[in-house]
Amino acid sequence: MNAIWPLGPSVKRLTTAGGAMLYNAALARNFNPAWFEPGFWAQRGELAGAALGRGTTHFVRGAGHDWVLRHYRRGGVAARLSEDRYLWRSEQRTRPFAEWALTHRLHRAGLPVPVPVAARYVRDGRAYRGDIITERLAPTWSLVEALRIDALSLLTWVSIGRCIRRFHDLGVCHADLNAHNVLLGEEGVYLVDFDRCRLRADGLWRDGNLVRLRRSLDKIAYGLPAERFTDADWHALLGGYRQPPVPPADAAAQRT
Ligand SMILES: Nc1ncnc2c1ncn2[C@@H]1O[C@H](COP(=O)(O)OP(=O)(O)O)[C@@H](O)[C@H]1O
Ligand SMILES: [Mg+2]
Repeated sequence: MNAIWPLGPSVKRLTTAGGAMLYNAALARNFNPAWFEPGFWAQRGELAGAALGRGTTHFVRGAGHDWVLRHYRRGGVAARLSEDRYLWRSEQRTRPFAEWALTHRLHRAGLPVPVPVAARYVRDGRAYRGDIITERLAPTWSLVEALRIDALSLLTWVSIGRCIRRFHDLGVCHADLNAHNVLLGEEGVYLVDFDRCRLRADGLWRDGNLVRLRRSLDKIAYGLPAERFTDADWHALLGGYRQPPVPPADAAAQRT
């Protein structure tokens, strides 16, 4: 198992009815598949809201856990064909296990991502359904939520650019780099939602990611006061992106 998922000793894989799950036993001991069901948390009074969007992301909060539970669901036209069933190919290629593996790896590499708690798939003939649980990053606001309230400082835009650059330097091509998937917190900038993301050799996909984010920002800015997202903001982001990364030795010296 660990040959396929070199995820560290605390990661467990369990076969469940019709499928399998992965969980991090250091974060959730005796993880129970029922924990993937929003109804389970609703009964305990521990559902703490849902994220805006497709309506399949729930926040669950109780003693010792503050998690985000997401059911994989399609958006757009594909949703009309099949809402939440995906074609089975192999365990590693299921959306939840692939997202788990990449997010876990990024977290261990020190990148600002949510810590994965658990992931599962349930097979249904030639298809499967899937869910993932991550630790909630809090307090954070998505870039969309933040812009609806106020303009951001140029320094914040610079740090968003710098954050994206760190992922790109590791080869992380984000499949959906939009303003909902950039979170801002007191401790800095995070990226979320690594569904369908891949590690890739350098290429034009880097620009593609930035263009997608720009389009998303333009869409959100439409209808907001003009000063919420300006050319200067975008250039600050690009400036942060283009800054050469700080080598580890210099970073240590800067901290002292
Ligand atoms: N770990 C997390 N901590 C805090 N907020 C999160 C976390 N994961 C997701 N969110 C919020 O939930 C939203 C939806 O989650 P996401 O993973 O992007 O799913 P999708 O875009 O497929 O619906 C995000 O845009 C973000 O605002
Ligand atoms: Mg998203």
